[in-house]
Amino acid sequence: MERGQLGEGGRGLLGGLLTVDDPRAFYEAGYTQPDAAEALRLGRWRELGARSKAAHVRELCERTKLRPRTLVEIGCGDGALLAALRGLPPVFDGFELSAPAAELARRALPDARRIEPFDGAEVPAEDGAYDLAILSHVLEHVPVPLPLVVEAARVAHEVIVEVPLEDNRSARRPDKREEAARIGHLHFFDRAAVRGLVSAAGLEREEEITDPLPYAHHAFFAEGFGARGAAFAKWAARAGAHRVAPRSCEAWFTVHYAVLARRP
Ligand SMILES: C[S@@+](CC[C@H](N)C(=O)[O-])C[C@H]1O[C@@H](n2cnc3c(N)ncnc32)[C@H](O)[C@@H]1O
Repeated sequence: MERGQLGEGGRGLLGGLLTVDDPRAFYEAGYTQPDAAEALRLGRWRELGARSKAAHVRELCERTKLRPRTLVEIGCGDGALLAALRGLPPVFDGFELSAPAAELARRALPDARRIEPFDGAEVPAEDGAYDLAILSHVLEHVPVPLPLVVEAARVAHEVIVEVPLEDNRSARRPDKREEAARIGHLHFFDRAAVRGLVSAAGLEREEEITDPLPYAHHAFFAEGFGARGAAFAKWAARAGAHRVAPRSCEAWFTVHYAVLARRP
């Protein structure tokens, strides 16, 4: 695993404003988009991402025959993933570092039991309060990720962690690193690093998934025929390579990795 320069106090931009030295302010700005059209576009982007993330959660639950009755998402953002998971757990909660994001999630999820901002460290729930805790695309944003995995394992019997695996040849290119830093990525994980975090938190790995992501994801920001064609070629090459040699792909380009682990 490589550690991004931002962890050492570098500057990152989200909404073009702030440093990750103050994570709360960084993610508050990230969810406060003054331009209505841009806010709508970002909402659609998160919704699209949530479809894949929710499919991974459902697949992991199906493979392990897990039927969570209570679920918590730690770092739930605007609630897009919880919304895409509707129907899986009867009871669901979300906690989020950024108050504006928690407010968006509260509005999107009137059927949730609790959607609240929290300090990013201590989930305001009893030990074992949930069947399942989800940390989705959060750990790469947290300066020291292990305590948050330990906290997830404290409040839930089963934990799903999903991150992008960015310790690869394509994502190591300077423009890609710059983009990852801009959106607050502090860590560039490989599978071994995530497995290490999960087991250091006292969890036993049950099932894993990797996903090179659908065409719609690669094409979302593509404008014009040429860009959409390039996105199509990228998607087709990655999806094909992933079908043939899924593990080797992790050294070449970014895939999303989701792991379900449980307390022994
Ligand atoms: C890329 S978003 C992912 C949102 C959502 N989990 C999803 O997968 O759609 C990263 C989220 O992590 C949150 N975050 C950053 N540091 C955190 C921390 N220490 N604890 C909880 N959430 C944190 C950010 O506020 C942001 O909402």
